[in-house]
Amino acid sequence: MYRTHTCGELRIENVGQKVTLAGWVQKARKLGGMTFVDLRDRYGITQLVVEGSAAPELQEVASSLGREFVIQVSGEVLERESKNAKMPTGDIEIRLETINILNKSVTPPFTIEENSDGGEDLRAKYRYLDLRRGPLQRALKIRHDIAHEIRNYLNDQNFMEIETPYLIKSTPEGARDFVVPSRMNPGTFYALPQSPQTFKQLLMVAGYDRYFQIVRCFRDEDLRADRQPEFTQIDCEMSFVEQEDVLNTFEGMMRTLFKKICNVDIPNPIPRMSWYDAMDFYGSDKPDIRFGMKIHEITGLVKGYGFSVFDSCDYIGAICVDGAASYTRKEIDALTEWVKRPQVGAKGLVYIKVNEDGSIKSSIDKFYSPEQLQAVADAMEAKKGDMILVMCGAKRKTQTMLGVLRLEMGNRLGYRDPFNFAPLWIVDFPLFEWDDETNRFYAMHHPFTAPKPEHLDWYYSNEKEDLERVCANAYDFVLNGTELGGGSIRIHEAAMQERMFEILGISKEDADYKFGFIINAFKFGAPPHGGLAFGFDRVCALFGGQETIRDYIAFPKNNQGRDVMIDSPSYIDQTQMDELFLQSTAPAPEE
Ligand code: AMO
Repeated sequence: MYRTHTCGELRIENVGQKVTLAGWVQKARKLGGMTFVDLRDRYGITQLVVEGSAAPELQEVASSLGREFVIQVSGEVLERESKNAKMPTGDIEIRLETINILNKSVTPPFTIEENSDGGEDLRAKYRYLDLRRGPLQRALKIRHDIAHEIRNYLNDQNFMEIETPYLIKSTPEGARDFVVPSRMNPGTFYALPQSPQTFKQLLMVAGYDRYFQIVRCFRDEDLRADRQPEFTQIDCEMSFVEQEDVLNTFEGMMRTLFKKICNVDIPNPIPRMSWYDAMDFYGSDKPDIRFGMKIHEITGLVKGYGFSVFDSCDYIGAICVDGAASYTRKEIDALTEWVKRPQVGAKGLVYIKVNEDGSIKSSIDKFYSPEQLQAVADAMEAKKGDMILVMCGAKRKTQTMLGVLRLEMGNRLGYRDPFNFAPLWIVDFPLFEWDDETNRFYAMHHPFTAPKPEHLDWYYSNEKEDLERVCANAYDFVLNGTELGGGSIRIHEAAMQERMFEILGISKEDADYKFGFIINAFKFGAPPHGGLAFGFDRVCALFGGQETIRDYIAFPKNNQGRDVMIDSPSYIDQTQMDELFLQSTAPAPEE
Protein backbone atom coordinates (compact mmCIF):
# COMPACT_ATOMS: atom_id res chain seq x y z
CA MET A 1 0.00 0.00 0.00
CA TYR A 2 1.42 3.35 -1.00
CA ARG A 3 -0.49 5.25 1.66
CA THR A 4 -2.56 4.74 4.78
CA HIS A 5 -4.30 8.11 4.51
CA THR A 6 -4.83 10.92 2.02
CA CYS A 7 -3.34 14.40 2.49
CA GLY A 8 -6.73 15.82 3.48
CA GLU A 9 -7.65 13.29 6.09
CA LEU A 10 -5.64 13.53 9.30
CA ARG A 11 -7.04 15.40 12.32
CA ILE A 12 -6.22 15.94 15.98
CA GLU A 13 -7.81 12.53 16.77
CA ASN A 14 -5.03 10.86 14.78
CA VAL A 15 -2.24 12.23 16.97
CA GLY A 16 0.14 9.46 17.95
CA GLN A 17 -0.62 7.26 14.91
CA LYS A 18 2.06 6.06 12.52
CA VAL A 19 0.95 6.93 8.97
CA THR A 20 2.17 6.75 5.38
CA LEU A 21 1.20 9.44 2.87
CA ALA A 22 1.96 9.97 -0.81
CA GLY A 23 1.61 13.10 -2.88
CA TRP A 24 3.25 16.13 -4.47
CA VAL A 25 5.59 18.60 -2.75
CA GLN A 26 3.80 21.93 -2.86
CA LYS A 27 6.46 23.73 -0.89
CA ALA A 28 9.58 22.80 1.13
CA ARG A 29 11.25 25.32 3.41
CA LYS A 30 13.94 25.36 6.08
CA LEU A 31 13.27 27.08 9.38
CA GLY A 32 16.01 26.97 11.98
CA GLY A 33 17.24 23.42 11.96
CA MET A 34 13.94 21.99 10.71
CA THR A 35 12.54 21.32 7.23
CA PHE A 36 8.82 21.83 6.63
CA VAL A 37 7.13 20.32 3.59
CA ASP A 38 3.55 20.88 2.37
CA LEU A 39 2.41 17.62 0.81
CA ARG A 40 -0.56 17.82 -1.55
CA ASP A 41 -2.98 15.44 -3.22
CA ARG A 42 -6.50 16.05 -4.45
CA TYR A 43 -7.91 15.69 -0.95
CA GLY A 44 -5.86 18.43 0.69
CA ILE A 45 -2.50 19.45 2.10
CA THR A 46 -0.68 18.01 5.11
CA GLN A 47 2.35 19.58 6.76
CA LEU A 48 5.39 17.33 7.15
CA VAL A 49 8.33 18.11 9.38
CA VAL A 50 11.88 16.78 9.52
CA GLU A 51 13.37 17.75 12.84
CA GLY A 52 16.91 18.98 13.37
CA SER A 53 17.58 15.88 15.48
CA ALA A 54 16.56 13.50 12.66
CA ALA A 55 19.08 11.18 11.00
CA PRO A 56 21.48 13.15 8.72
CA GLU A 57 20.45 11.01 5.66
CA LEU A 58 16.81 11.93 6.22
CA GLN A 59 17.69 15.62 6.55
CA GLU A 60 19.68 15.40 3.34
CA VAL A 61 16.77 13.90 1.36
CA ALA A 62 14.42 16.52 2.85
CA SER A 63 16.70 19.34 1.71
CA SER A 64 16.81 17.94 -1.82
CA LEU A 65 13.03 18.07 -2.31
CA GLY A 66 11.84 20.41 -5.05
CA ARG A 67 8.38 21.62 -6.00
CA GLU A 68 6.15 18.92 -7.50
CA PHE A 69 8.42 16.01 -6.55
CA VAL A 70 6.25 12.94 -5.92
CA ILE A 71 7.13 11.40 -2.56
CA GLN A 72 6.01 8.74 -0.15
CA VAL A 73 6.58 9.51 3.52
CA SER A 74 6.06 7.75 6.85
CA GLY A 75 6.03 9.13 10.33
CA GLU A 76 4.02 9.96 13.41
CA VAL A 77 1.08 12.38 13.64
CA LEU A 78 1.87 15.21 16.11
CA GLU A 79 -0.20 18.06 17.44
CA ARG A 80 1.11 21.30 15.92
CA GLU A 81 2.49 24.03 18.11
CA SER A 82 1.19 26.82 15.89
CA LYS A 83 -2.13 25.62 14.47
CA ASN A 84 -3.54 26.81 11.14
CA ALA A 85 -7.31 27.24 11.44
CA LYS A 86 -7.63 27.84 7.70
CA MET A 87 -6.61 24.26 6.83
CA PRO A 88 -8.71 21.20 7.71
CA THR A 89 -5.46 19.42 8.60
CA GLY A 90 -4.09 22.55 10.33
CA ASP A 91 -4.06 21.07 13.84
CA ILE A 92 -1.48 18.40 13.04
CA GLU A 93 1.78 17.68 11.29
CA ILE A 94 3.72 14.49 10.54
CA ARG A 95 7.15 14.00 12.07
CA LEU A 96 8.90 12.11 9.30
CA GLU A 97 10.85 8.91 9.74
CA THR A 98 11.27 8.02 6.05
CA ILE A 99 11.06 9.85 2.72
CA ASN A 100 10.92 7.88 -0.50
CA ILE A 101 11.27 10.00 -3.65
CA LEU A 102 8.97 8.30 -6.16
CA ASN A 103 9.69 10.79 -8.92
CA LYS A 104 11.49 14.10 -9.34
CA SER A 105 10.02 17.07 -11.16
CA VAL A 106 11.55 19.84 -13.22
CA THR A 107 10.62 23.29 -11.90
CA PRO A 108 6.96 23.88 -12.88
CA PRO A 109 6.30 26.90 -15.12
CA PHE A 110 3.89 28.48 -12.62
CA THR A 111 2.95 28.12 -8.99
CA ILE A 112 0.49 25.35 -8.30
CA GLU A 113 -1.51 26.96 -5.53
CA GLU A 114 -5.00 28.38 -5.06
CA ASN A 115 -4.02 31.51 -6.99
CA SER A 116 -1.46 30.73 -9.65
CA ASP A 117 1.03 33.26 -11.02
CA GLY A 118 0.70 31.68 -14.49
CA GLY A 119 -1.07 33.47 -17.37
CA GLU A 120 -3.98 31.81 -19.13
CA ASP A 121 -1.98 30.62 -22.16
CA LEU A 122 0.77 29.11 -20.06
CA ARG A 123 -1.71 27.32 -17.82
CA ALA A 124 -3.56 26.00 -20.90
CA LYS A 125 -0.32 24.61 -22.31
CA TYR A 126 0.36 22.79 -19.03
CA ARG A 127 -3.26 21.97 -18.31
CA TYR A 128 -2.30 18.81 -16.38
CA LEU A 129 -0.42 21.03 -13.92
CA ASP A 130 -3.23 23.59 -13.73
CA LEU A 131 -5.60 20.70 -12.97
CA ARG A 132 -3.58 20.02 -9.79
CA ARG A 133 -4.82 23.36 -8.41
CA GLY A 134 -7.68 23.56 -5.89
CA PRO A 135 -10.13 25.69 -7.94
CA LEU A 136 -10.00 23.30 -10.90
CA GLN A 137 -10.20 20.23 -8.72
CA ARG A 138 -13.30 21.65 -7.05
CA ALA A 139 -14.82 22.48 -10.47
CA LEU A 140 -14.33 18.93 -11.74
CA LYS A 141 -15.70 17.55 -8.48
CA ILE A 142 -18.91 19.60 -8.88
CA ARG A 143 -19.14 18.28 -12.42
CA HIS A 144 -18.78 14.71 -11.23
CA ASP A 145 -21.32 15.21 -8.42
CA ILE A 146 -23.90 16.77 -10.75
CA ALA A 147 -23.52 13.96 -13.29
CA HIS A 148 -23.97 11.45 -10.50
CA GLU A 149 -27.16 13.12 -9.20
CA ILE A 150 -28.57 13.44 -12.72
CA ARG A 151 -28.09 9.73 -13.32
CA ASN A 152 -29.71 8.89 -9.97
CA TYR A 153 -32.69 11.15 -10.59
CA LEU A 154 -33.34 10.02 -14.15
CA ASN A 155 -32.81 6.36 -13.27
CA ASP A 156 -35.42 6.73 -10.51
CA GLN A 157 -37.78 8.18 -13.13
CA ASN A 158 -37.32 5.13 -15.38
CA PHE A 159 -35.04 6.80 -17.93
CA MET A 160 -32.52 4.61 -19.77
CA GLU A 161 -29.09 5.94 -20.74
CA ILE A 162 -28.43 4.94 -24.33
CA GLU A 163 -25.39 5.93 -26.40
CA THR A 164 -25.77 7.25 -29.92
CA PRO A 165 -23.08 7.43 -32.61
CA TYR A 166 -20.59 10.25 -33.17
CA LEU A 167 -19.85 9.52 -36.82
CA ILE A 168 -23.15 10.58 -38.34
CA LYS A 169 -24.78 12.87 -40.86
CA SER A 170 -25.46 16.58 -40.46
CA THR A 171 -27.93 17.47 -37.69
CA PRO A 172 -30.01 20.61 -37.91
CA GLU A 173 -29.04 22.66 -34.83
CA GLY A 174 -28.04 25.70 -36.85
CA ALA A 175 -24.26 25.72 -36.40
CA ARG A 176 -21.60 24.51 -38.84
CA ASP A 177 -20.69 20.83 -38.71
CA PHE A 178 -17.31 19.37 -37.91
CA VAL A 179 -16.73 16.74 -40.57
CA VAL A 180 -14.60 13.60 -40.76
CA PRO A 181 -13.48 12.16 -44.10
CA SER A 182 -14.17 8.49 -44.72
CA ARG A 183 -11.24 6.43 -46.02
CA MET A 184 -13.43 3.47 -46.91
CA ASN A 185 -15.96 5.55 -48.80
CA PRO A 186 -13.86 7.85 -50.98
CA GLY A 187 -15.00 11.46 -51.23
CA THR A 188 -17.61 11.15 -48.47
CA PHE A 189 -17.70 12.63 -45.00
CA TYR A 190 -19.27 11.93 -41.67
CA ALA A 191 -20.53 14.89 -39.67
CA LEU A 192 -20.05 14.93 -35.90
CA PRO A 193 -23.38 15.41 -34.09
CA GLN A 194 -24.35 18.95 -33.10
CA SER A 195 -26.71 17.01 -30.83
CA PRO A 196 -28.20 13.50 -30.86
CA GLN A 197 -31.55 15.06 -31.89
CA THR A 198 -32.52 12.70 -34.70
CA PHE A 199 -31.26 9.58 -32.90
CA LYS A 200 -33.23 10.27 -29.76
CA GLN A 201 -36.35 10.69 -31.85
CA LEU A 202 -35.61 7.37 -33.56
CA LEU A 203 -35.26 5.79 -30.10
CA MET A 204 -38.81 7.00 -29.39
CA VAL A 205 -39.99 5.32 -32.60
CA ALA A 206 -38.14 2.24 -31.33
CA GLY A 207 -40.17 2.30 -28.13
CA TYR A 208 -37.53 3.40 -25.55
CA ASP A 209 -39.99 5.88 -24.10
CA ARG A 210 -37.65 7.57 -21.61
CA TYR A 211 -34.12 8.15 -22.90
CA PHE A 212 -31.25 10.21 -21.61
CA GLN A 213 -27.57 10.54 -22.31
CA ILE A 214 -24.79 12.73 -20.93
CA VAL A 215 -23.27 13.20 -24.32
CA ARG A 216 -20.62 15.15 -26.21
CA CYS A 217 -21.86 17.49 -28.96
CA PHE A 218 -19.82 19.29 -31.61
CA ARG A 219 -20.53 22.69 -33.13
CA ASP A 220 -18.28 24.80 -35.29
CA GLU A 221 -19.40 28.25 -34.16
CA ASP A 222 -17.89 31.44 -32.77
CA LEU A 223 -16.71 30.79 -29.24
CA ARG A 224 -17.65 32.73 -26.13
CA ALA A 225 -17.31 32.30 -22.38
CA ASP A 226 -20.24 29.86 -22.37
CA ARG A 227 -19.51 28.12 -25.68
CA GLN A 228 -17.01 25.42 -26.56
CA PRO A 229 -16.69 23.62 -29.92
CA GLU A 230 -17.17 20.33 -28.12
CA PHE A 231 -19.44 20.51 -25.13
CA THR A 232 -21.67 18.15 -23.19
CA GLN A 233 -25.44 17.91 -23.09
CA ILE A 234 -27.79 16.20 -20.69
CA ASP A 235 -29.92 15.03 -23.57
CA CYS A 236 -33.41 13.67 -22.87
CA GLU A 237 -36.50 12.51 -24.73
CA MET A 238 -39.87 11.10 -23.63
CA SER A 239 -42.82 9.50 -25.41
CA PHE A 240 -46.53 9.94 -24.74
CA VAL A 241 -46.00 13.34 -23.16
CA GLU A 242 -47.24 16.88 -23.53
CA GLN A 243 -45.23 20.03 -22.82
CA GLU A 244 -46.47 20.09 -19.22
CA ASP A 245 -45.14 16.58 -18.55
CA VAL A 246 -41.68 17.46 -19.86
CA LEU A 247 -41.52 20.71 -17.87
CA ASN A 248 -42.58 18.97 -14.67
CA THR A 249 -40.08 16.13 -15.06
CA PHE A 250 -37.12 18.44 -15.60
CA GLU A 251 -38.24 20.99 -13.07
CA GLY A 252 -38.00 18.07 -10.65
CA MET A 253 -34.50 17.26 -11.86
CA MET A 254 -33.28 20.85 -11.48
CA ARG A 255 -34.92 21.18 -8.07
CA THR A 256 -33.14 18.02 -6.91
CA LEU A 257 -29.80 19.23 -8.26
CA PHE A 258 -30.09 22.64 -6.60
CA LYS A 259 -30.95 21.00 -3.30
CA LYS A 260 -28.32 18.27 -3.39
CA ILE A 261 -25.44 20.25 -4.87
CA CYS A 262 -26.01 23.81 -3.59
CA ASN A 263 -28.47 23.18 -0.74
CA VAL A 264 -30.75 25.80 -2.31
CA ASP A 265 -34.55 25.61 -2.57
CA ILE A 266 -35.59 27.09 -5.90
CA PRO A 267 -39.12 28.53 -6.40
CA ASN A 268 -41.88 25.96 -6.74
CA PRO A 269 -43.20 26.13 -9.41
CA ILE A 270 -40.46 27.73 -11.45
CA PRO A 271 -41.94 30.88 -13.03
CA ARG A 272 -42.81 30.86 -16.73
CA MET A 273 -42.69 33.72 -19.20
CA SER A 274 -43.70 33.86 -22.84
CA TRP A 275 -40.99 34.58 -25.38
CA TYR A 276 -42.89 37.75 -26.35
CA ASP A 277 -42.87 39.08 -22.77
CA ALA A 278 -39.20 38.19 -22.40
CA MET A 279 -38.36 40.25 -25.46
CA ASP A 280 -40.71 43.15 -24.61
CA PHE A 281 -39.72 43.52 -20.96
CA TYR A 282 -36.14 42.21 -20.82
CA GLY A 283 -34.93 42.57 -24.41
CA SER A 284 -33.65 39.01 -24.29
CA ASP A 285 -34.90 35.46 -24.76
CA LYS A 286 -32.92 34.56 -21.63
CA PRO A 287 -33.87 37.22 -19.11
CA ASP A 288 -32.04 37.66 -15.86
CA ILE A 289 -34.92 38.00 -13.39
CA ARG A 290 -32.76 38.48 -10.31
CA PHE A 291 -33.71 42.16 -10.59
CA GLY A 292 -36.47 44.31 -12.11
CA MET A 293 -35.48 47.35 -14.16
CA LYS A 294 -37.87 46.15 -16.87
CA ILE A 295 -38.07 47.76 -20.29
CA HIS A 296 -41.10 49.99 -20.84
CA GLU A 297 -42.36 51.14 -24.20
CA ILE A 298 -42.86 54.92 -24.09
CA THR A 299 -43.51 55.53 -27.81
CA GLY A 300 -47.01 56.92 -27.13
CA LEU A 301 -45.69 59.41 -24.56
CA VAL A 302 -42.83 60.95 -26.53
CA LYS A 303 -43.40 60.43 -30.26
CA GLY A 304 -44.90 63.26 -32.31
CA TYR A 305 -43.75 66.26 -30.27
CA GLY A 306 -41.23 67.61 -32.75
CA PHE A 307 -38.11 65.75 -31.57
CA SER A 308 -37.08 64.33 -34.94
CA VAL A 309 -34.99 61.44 -33.56
CA PHE A 310 -38.02 60.02 -31.76
CA ASP A 311 -40.54 61.08 -34.41
CA SER A 312 -38.76 59.02 -37.07
CA CYS A 313 -38.72 55.80 -34.96
CA ASP A 314 -41.18 52.89 -34.75
CA TYR A 315 -40.36 52.16 -31.18
CA ILE A 316 -39.08 54.08 -28.17
CA GLY A 317 -38.24 52.17 -24.99
CA ALA A 318 -36.67 52.91 -21.63
CA ILE A 319 -35.37 51.47 -18.38
CA CYS A 320 -35.40 53.17 -14.99
CA VAL A 321 -32.12 52.81 -13.09
CA ASP A 322 -32.30 52.98 -9.28
CA GLY A 323 -30.35 55.84 -7.73
CA ALA A 324 -28.56 56.79 -10.96
CA ALA A 325 -29.66 60.45 -10.96
CA SER A 326 -26.35 61.08 -9.26
CA TYR A 327 -24.49 60.22 -12.51
CA THR A 328 -22.38 63.17 -13.59
CA ARG A 329 -22.30 64.57 -17.11
CA LYS A 330 -18.98 62.78 -17.62
CA GLU A 331 -20.37 59.45 -16.43
CA ILE A 332 -23.38 59.76 -18.72
CA ASP A 333 -21.08 60.58 -21.67
CA ALA A 334 -19.03 57.48 -20.88
CA LEU A 335 -22.20 55.37 -20.73
CA THR A 336 -23.31 56.80 -24.07
CA GLU A 337 -19.96 55.83 -25.60
CA TRP A 338 -20.39 52.37 -24.04
CA VAL A 339 -23.75 51.78 -25.77
CA LYS A 340 -22.31 53.06 -29.07
CA ARG A 341 -19.66 50.32 -29.14
CA PRO A 342 -20.28 47.72 -31.87
CA GLN A 343 -21.06 45.10 -29.17
CA VAL A 344 -24.20 47.07 -28.28
CA GLY A 345 -24.69 49.05 -31.47
CA ALA A 346 -26.88 51.96 -30.26
CA LYS A 347 -26.83 55.30 -32.02
CA GLY A 348 -27.23 57.25 -28.80
CA LEU A 349 -28.75 57.44 -25.35
CA VAL A 350 -31.28 59.89 -23.92
CA TYR A 351 -31.56 60.36 -20.15
CA ILE A 352 -34.27 61.74 -17.88
CA LYS A 353 -33.16 62.28 -14.28
CA VAL A 354 -35.59 62.60 -11.39
CA ASN A 355 -33.47 64.64 -8.97
CA GLU A 356 -33.63 64.20 -5.20
CA ASP A 357 -35.65 67.46 -4.96
CA GLY A 358 -38.20 66.06 -7.42
CA SER A 359 -37.15 68.30 -10.32
CA ILE A 360 -36.52 66.73 -13.72
CA LYS A 361 -33.35 67.13 -15.77
CA SER A 362 -33.01 65.59 -19.18
CA SER A 363 -30.96 65.59 -22.37
CA ILE A 364 -34.17 66.40 -24.25
CA ASP A 365 -35.34 69.36 -22.10
CA LYS A 366 -35.49 71.51 -25.22
CA PHE A 367 -38.14 69.39 -26.87
CA TYR A 368 -40.42 68.46 -23.97
CA SER A 369 -42.13 70.33 -21.14
CA PRO A 370 -41.37 69.27 -17.55
CA GLU A 371 -44.96 67.91 -17.40
CA GLN A 372 -44.37 65.69 -20.43
CA LEU A 373 -41.16 64.34 -18.92
CA GLN A 374 -42.89 63.88 -15.57
CA ALA A 375 -45.53 61.79 -17.37
CA VAL A 376 -42.74 59.48 -18.61
CA ALA A 377 -41.29 59.30 -15.09
CA ASP A 378 -44.74 58.46 -13.68
CA ALA A 379 -45.37 55.78 -16.31
CA MET A 380 -42.05 54.19 -15.36
CA GLU A 381 -42.68 54.56 -11.64
CA ALA A 382 -39.38 56.42 -11.27
CA LYS A 383 -38.52 57.47 -7.72
CA LYS A 384 -36.57 60.53 -6.63
CA GLY A 385 -32.92 59.88 -7.37
CA ASP A 386 -33.57 57.53 -10.33
CA MET A 387 -32.48 58.00 -13.92
CA ILE A 388 -34.44 56.85 -16.97
CA LEU A 389 -32.39 55.76 -19.99
CA VAL A 390 -34.12 55.86 -23.38
CA MET A 391 -33.31 54.29 -26.76
CA CYS A 392 -35.24 54.23 -30.01
CA GLY A 393 -35.26 52.46 -33.37
CA ALA A 394 -36.66 49.22 -34.78
CA LYS A 395 -38.60 47.43 -32.02
CA ARG A 396 -36.76 44.15 -31.43
CA LYS A 397 -33.33 45.63 -32.10
CA THR A 398 -33.92 48.48 -29.66
CA GLN A 399 -35.30 46.12 -27.02
CA THR A 400 -32.22 43.94 -27.39
CA MET A 401 -29.90 46.95 -26.90
CA LEU A 402 -31.91 48.07 -23.87
CA GLY A 403 -31.60 44.49 -22.59
CA VAL A 404 -27.80 44.68 -22.81
CA LEU A 405 -27.80 48.08 -21.07
CA ARG A 406 -30.10 46.68 -18.38
CA LEU A 407 -27.63 43.89 -17.61
CA GLU A 408 -24.75 46.37 -17.46
CA MET A 409 -26.65 48.61 -15.03
CA GLY A 410 -27.60 45.49 -13.03
CA ASN A 411 -23.89 44.62 -12.79
CA ARG A 412 -22.97 48.13 -11.70
CA LEU A 413 -25.65 48.10 -9.01
CA GLY A 414 -24.53 44.68 -7.72
CA TYR A 415 -27.86 43.02 -8.56
CA ARG A 416 -26.27 39.96 -10.18
CA ASP A 417 -25.00 37.87 -7.26
CA PRO A 418 -23.95 34.53 -8.84
CA PHE A 419 -25.20 32.57 -5.83
CA ASN A 420 -28.69 34.06 -6.00
CA PHE A 421 -30.36 31.57 -8.36
CA ALA A 422 -33.40 32.73 -10.35
CA PRO A 423 -34.56 29.98 -12.74
CA LEU A 424 -37.23 30.58 -15.35
CA TRP A 425 -38.99 28.74 -18.18
CA ILE A 426 -39.42 30.64 -21.43
CA VAL A 427 -42.40 29.25 -23.35
CA ASP A 428 -44.51 30.07 -26.44
CA PHE A 429 -41.64 30.70 -28.83
CA PRO A 430 -42.50 31.67 -32.39
CA LEU A 431 -42.02 28.54 -34.56
CA PHE A 432 -40.32 30.51 -37.35
CA GLU A 433 -37.96 33.41 -37.70
CA TRP A 434 -38.04 35.42 -40.95
CA ASP A 435 -34.70 36.49 -42.40
CA ASP A 436 -34.80 39.53 -44.69
CA GLU A 437 -31.39 38.86 -46.15
CA THR A 438 -32.11 35.38 -47.47
CA ASN A 439 -35.83 36.10 -47.79
CA ARG A 440 -36.90 32.89 -46.09
CA PHE A 441 -38.09 31.41 -42.82
CA TYR A 442 -35.77 29.61 -40.42
CA ALA A 443 -36.81 27.26 -37.61
CA MET A 444 -36.38 29.14 -34.34
CA HIS A 445 -35.55 25.89 -32.49
CA HIS A 446 -35.02 23.11 -35.04
CA PRO A 447 -37.18 21.70 -37.85
CA PHE A 448 -38.58 18.82 -35.75
CA THR A 449 -40.39 21.19 -33.36
CA ALA A 450 -44.18 20.95 -33.45
CA PRO A 451 -46.49 23.95 -33.84
CA LYS A 452 -49.01 24.56 -31.09
CA PRO A 453 -52.12 22.51 -31.97
CA GLU A 454 -54.30 25.65 -31.79
CA HIS A 455 -52.08 27.32 -34.45
CA LEU A 456 -52.36 24.58 -37.07
CA ASP A 457 -54.54 26.68 -39.39
CA TRP A 458 -51.78 29.27 -39.58
CA TYR A 459 -49.20 26.51 -40.01
CA TYR A 460 -50.90 25.30 -43.15
CA SER A 461 -51.61 28.85 -44.46
CA ASN A 462 -49.44 30.31 -47.20
CA GLU A 463 -49.56 33.85 -45.82
CA LYS A 464 -46.30 35.13 -44.34
CA GLU A 465 -48.20 36.97 -41.54
CA ASP A 466 -49.94 33.74 -40.54
CA LEU A 467 -46.71 31.76 -40.43
CA GLU A 468 -45.08 34.48 -38.34
CA ARG A 469 -47.85 34.07 -35.77
CA VAL A 470 -47.43 30.31 -35.30
CA CYS A 471 -46.11 29.49 -31.84
CA ALA A 472 -44.10 26.39 -31.09
CA ASN A 473 -44.53 23.89 -28.32
CA ALA A 474 -41.00 24.80 -27.33
CA TYR A 475 -39.39 25.84 -24.06
CA ASP A 476 -36.06 27.03 -22.71
CA PHE A 477 -34.73 26.72 -19.17
CA VAL A 478 -33.03 29.99 -18.23
CA LEU A 479 -30.91 30.68 -15.15
CA ASN A 480 -29.56 34.13 -14.23
CA GLY A 481 -29.50 35.32 -17.84
CA THR A 482 -28.00 32.13 -19.31
CA GLU A 483 -29.86 29.62 -21.47
CA LEU A 484 -29.22 26.38 -19.67
CA GLY A 485 -31.45 24.16 -21.73
CA GLY A 486 -34.07 23.96 -24.39
CA GLY A 487 -36.42 21.56 -26.07
CA SER A 488 -39.78 21.01 -27.63
CA ILE A 489 -42.64 18.69 -28.38
CA ARG A 490 -41.78 17.15 -31.74
CA ILE A 491 -43.61 16.58 -34.94
CA HIS A 492 -44.38 12.85 -35.15
CA GLU A 493 -46.33 12.69 -38.40
CA ALA A 494 -44.64 12.47 -41.76
CA ALA A 495 -47.08 14.90 -43.43
CA MET A 496 -46.58 17.61 -40.82
CA GLN A 497 -42.80 17.13 -41.03
CA GLU A 498 -42.91 17.47 -44.81
CA ARG A 499 -44.91 20.71 -44.45
CA MET A 500 -42.16 22.00 -42.13
CA PHE A 501 -39.47 21.37 -44.75
CA GLU A 502 -41.67 23.06 -47.34
CA ILE A 503 -42.01 26.22 -45.20
CA LEU A 504 -38.27 26.25 -44.58
CA GLY A 505 -37.68 26.10 -48.32
CA ILE A 506 -36.00 22.70 -48.11
CA SER A 507 -36.82 20.85 -51.32
CA LYS A 508 -38.28 17.36 -51.18
CA GLU A 509 -35.07 15.96 -52.67
CA ASP A 510 -32.94 17.83 -50.16
CA ALA A 511 -35.16 16.78 -47.23
CA ASP A 512 -35.03 13.16 -48.42
CA TYR A 513 -31.25 13.32 -48.78
CA LYS A 514 -30.69 14.86 -45.36
CA PHE A 515 -33.56 13.51 -43.25
CA GLY A 516 -35.16 10.75 -45.34
CA PHE A 517 -34.38 8.24 -42.58
CA ILE A 518 -36.45 10.09 -40.00
CA ILE A 519 -39.35 10.96 -42.34
CA ASN A 520 -39.41 7.29 -43.23
CA ALA A 521 -39.30 6.16 -39.60
CA PHE A 522 -42.33 8.32 -38.85
CA LYS A 523 -44.32 6.11 -41.24
CA PHE A 524 -43.87 3.12 -38.91
CA GLY A 525 -45.89 4.19 -35.89
CA ALA A 526 -44.02 7.09 -34.25
CA PRO A 527 -45.45 7.89 -30.81
CA PRO A 528 -46.13 11.50 -29.76
CA HIS A 529 -42.90 12.61 -28.12
CA GLY A 530 -40.85 15.54 -26.87
CA GLY A 531 -37.78 16.32 -24.85
CA LEU A 532 -35.03 18.73 -24.12
CA ALA A 533 -31.31 19.08 -23.60
CA PHE A 534 -29.42 20.98 -20.92
CA GLY A 535 -25.93 22.35 -21.47
CA PHE A 536 -24.11 20.27 -18.86
CA ASP A 537 -20.99 22.48 -18.81
CA ARG A 538 -23.17 25.55 -18.27
CA VAL A 539 -25.09 23.87 -15.43
CA CYS A 540 -21.78 23.03 -13.72
CA ALA A 541 -20.32 26.53 -14.16
CA LEU A 542 -23.42 28.33 -12.88
CA PHE A 543 -23.69 26.01 -9.89
CA GLY A 544 -20.08 26.91 -9.18
CA GLY A 545 -20.88 30.63 -9.44
CA GLN A 546 -19.04 31.18 -12.76
CA GLU A 547 -20.13 32.19 -16.27
CA THR A 548 -17.11 30.70 -18.04
CA ILE A 549 -17.45 26.99 -18.72
CA ARG A 550 -13.77 26.37 -19.51
CA ASP A 551 -12.72 25.56 -15.96
CA TYR A 552 -15.48 22.97 -15.68
CA ILE A 553 -14.07 20.97 -18.59
CA ALA A 554 -10.89 18.97 -17.96
CA PHE A 555 -9.33 19.67 -21.35
CA PRO A 556 -11.08 22.62 -23.03
CA LYS A 557 -10.22 24.53 -26.21
CA ASN A 558 -9.15 28.17 -26.28
CA ASN A 559 -11.05 30.98 -28.04
CA GLN A 560 -9.55 30.01 -31.39
CA GLY A 561 -10.82 26.46 -30.93
CA ARG A 562 -7.26 25.23 -30.28
CA ASP A 563 -5.99 22.79 -27.71
CA VAL A 564 -2.59 24.39 -27.08
CA MET A 565 -1.47 21.52 -24.85
CA ILE A 566 -1.60 18.85 -27.56
CA ASP A 567 -1.25 21.48 -30.33
CA SER A 568 -4.43 20.63 -32.19
CA PRO A 569 -5.80 21.06 -34.82
CA SER A 570 -2.60 20.29 -36.72
CA TYR A 571 -1.45 19.34 -40.18
CA ILE A 572 -1.51 15.71 -41.28
CA ASP A 573 1.05 14.21 -43.61
CA GLN A 574 0.58 13.72 -47.33
CA THR A 575 0.15 9.93 -47.06
CA GLN A 576 -2.78 10.39 -44.73
CA MET A 577 -4.23 13.09 -47.00
CA ASP A 578 -3.92 10.76 -49.99
CA GLU A 579 -5.56 7.87 -48.14
CA LEU A 580 -8.49 10.14 -47.38
CA PHE A 581 -8.63 11.49 -50.93
CA LEU A 582 -8.01 15.01 -49.64
CA GLN A 583 -6.24 17.96 -51.20
CA SER A 584 -5.65 21.13 -49.23
CA THR A 585 -5.91 24.60 -50.72
CA ALA A 586 -4.63 26.17 -47.49
CA PRO A 587 -1.09 27.63 -47.52
CA ALA A 588 1.53 24.95 -46.88
CA PRO A 589 2.68 24.64 -43.27
CA GLU A 590 5.88 26.50 -42.43
CA GLU A 591 8.82 24.14 -42.03
P1 AMO B 1 -29.85 23.53 -28.11
O1 AMO B 1 -29.20 23.80 -29.40
O2 AMO B 1 -30.68 24.62 -27.50
O3 AMO B 1 -30.87 22.30 -28.25
O4 AMO B 1 -28.76 23.03 -27.07
C1 AMO B 1 -29.12 22.67 -25.75
C2 AMO B 1 -28.23 23.35 -24.73
O5 AMO B 1 -26.86 23.05 -24.98
C3 AMO B 1 -26.05 24.14 -24.54
N1 AMO B 1 -25.15 24.54 -25.64
C4 AMO B 1 -23.82 24.75 -25.50
N2 AMO B 1 -23.02 24.70 -24.43
C5 AMO B 1 -21.70 24.95 -24.60
N3 AMO B 1 -21.14 25.24 -25.80
C6 AMO B 1 -21.91 25.30 -26.92
N4 AMO B 1 -21.33 25.56 -28.09
C7 AMO B 1 -23.32 25.06 -26.79
N5 AMO B 1 -24.36 25.04 -27.65
C8 AMO B 1 -25.45 24.71 -26.94
C9 AMO B 1 -26.97 25.26 -24.13
C10 AMO B 1 -28.28 24.87 -24.78
O6 AMO B 1 -29.39 25.35 -24.06
N6 AMO B 1 -31.41 19.04 -29.76
C11 AMO B 1 -31.81 20.24 -29.05
C12 AMO B 1 -32.47 19.92 -27.74
C13 AMO B 1 -33.86 19.38 -27.89
O7 AMO B 1 -34.64 19.94 -28.66
O8 AMO B 1 -34.17 18.40 -27.19
C14 AMO B 1 -30.57 21.10 -28.81
O9 AMO B 1 -29.45 20.71 -29.01
O10 AMO B 1 -27.10 25.26 -22.72
